[in-house]
Amino acid sequence: MFKPLKILDDSHKILRKISKEVELPLSKEDKDTIKQIIAHLKYSQIEKYAEKYDLRPGMGLAFPQLGELKRIIVIVHEYEEDKFKNYVIVNPKIISHSEEMVALETGEGCLSVNRDIEGHVPRYARITITGYDPDGNKISIRAREDLSVALQHEVDHLDGILFYDKINKKKPFFNENEIRLI
Ligand code: NI
Repeated sequence: MFKPLKILDDSHKILRKISKEVELPLSKEDKDTIKQIIAHLKYSQIEKYAEKYDLRPGMGLAFPQLGELKRIIVIVHEYEEDKFKNYVIVNPKIISHSEEMVALETGEGCLSVNRDIEGHVPRYARITITGYDPDGNKISIRAREDLSVALQHEVDHLDGILFYDKINKKKPFFNENEIRLI
């Protein structure tokens, strides 16, 4: 039976804390939480379920958004229409990145930010991220474009950073000559 998650909004100070590395393999409890997160993110991106359960669409979530200061991130990426791939990374580290920066043209959103915040968030166009799967196997993922952006957004949550921290208040929008908009 699907039950929507209770996601903390950014009025909670816990979202500003640094999360701790997690011991592996993960506990059954953490693995169950991951399953719930995957279901929530997937349903949130499928219109009929999003409506039925009143979910705001989101492709990623980090454990601190549930009030747990653990370095675990989850992304459900719709890489083609109606085709989803799940990414679960424990203790993630971005080990390399492109020089090139991009920004989502329409700005970023966050399941912990219940309002529209306009502005471009500069992100690396490509990253390599390493970490562990829930069973403790080492993983390495090369990501580009929207997946790269989403991973950087989620890793930021583990360090208490929210996307709007990275919007330049004096000049919130870039033009195409300054950054590639995707
Ligand atoms: Ni977020």
